[in-house]
Amino acid sequence: DWTSDVFIDISVDELRQKIGDDKVVMGLSGGVDSSVAATLIHRAIGDNLTCVFVDNGLLRKNEYEEVLKSYENMGLNVIGVDAKQRFYDALAGLSDPEDKRKAIGKAFIEVFDDEAHKIEGVKWLGQGTIYPDVIESVSVNGPSATIKSHHNVGGLPDFMKLQVVEPLNTLFKDGVREVGRALEIPENIVGRHPFPGPGLAIRILGDITPEKVRVLQEVDHIFIQGLKDHGLYDQVWQAGAILLPVQSVGVMGDERTYEKVVALRAVASVDGMTADWVHLPYEFLGQISNDIINKVKGVNRVVYDISSKPPATIEWE
Ligand code: XMP
Repeated sequence: DWTSDVFIDISVDELRQKIGDDKVVMGLSGGVDSSVAATLIHRAIGDNLTCVFVDNGLLRKNEYEEVLKSYENMGLNVIGVDAKQRFYDALAGLSDPEDKRKAIGKAFIEVFDDEAHKIEGVKWLGQGTIYPDVIESVSVNGPSATIKSHHNVGGLPDFMKLQVVEPLNTLFKDGVREVGRALEIPENIVGRHPFPGPGLAIRILGDITPEKVRVLQEVDHIFIQGLKDHGLYDQVWQAGAILLPVQSVGVMGDERTYEKVVALRAVASVDGMTADWVHLPYEFLGQISNDIINKVKGVNRVVYDISSKPPATIEWE
């Protein structure tokens, strides 16, 4: 009989045997997988694990500060790195989705490598890889996906010559969440929706500017907070907002407006490989739409994405 407690006991023993007194470095994304993996490794080897959490300027509103605080409260030995400007510079002028992904992956590797070099004698790289990542080439993980898909970009950064330790690579997402709850990881991390490594950069169609990020963060925050307030968040696999590269005509008072359009997306899924759009209540959608248009300057129209995967994908880019 598989139980989280048995899994945790066995994993912690194995990790201790494998790692011994060595040092481990690991990138945290704020997501459930890397958080649970780090907590397991921390339980096994304590502060010989150093975690690195990078602010790439593409996270949700307030996410970096809140998640960093959660990690600190969980007792993890975590270094927060504010690399926002570095990512914005790397993205400047890029519109093609794959170009954006590559620029973000490269920037992440450089930032992470710098941090890994500061840890003396590090021998292992911890990763939050889960079983579907092992069998599918597309991973829903942040840092691990970024690292994998950039294996062949230039020379290998030094941290990639480290031995890899992946304590969750036999589990599915549900199992990871169960283990996370048994480890008493806060619900705001364990129950969190998946979020792509490139973050809001692939939800801003076209080129990225800090101002567009700010607008999308506001829109996304209203939507996600609304889902939570209405008890809908946990019924959805993943949700978010997309900033479209079009303007639409609207009217405010006697004035004609010509402003941005955002799309909302919420899907039900088991593993992200297929997904159905969620039939969110009309009343809820109406209220969120009003809130967004009233509160977020520069947005005058909200649409709801009713496509399923396949043939659409979850993300628009
Ligand atoms: P799609 O859009 O392919 O997304 O249906 C499936 C799942 O993968 C996530 N996703 C990514 N995750 N790096 C990531 O770490 C990426 O480049 C990336 N692209 C998509 C997406 O959010 C969904 O959970």
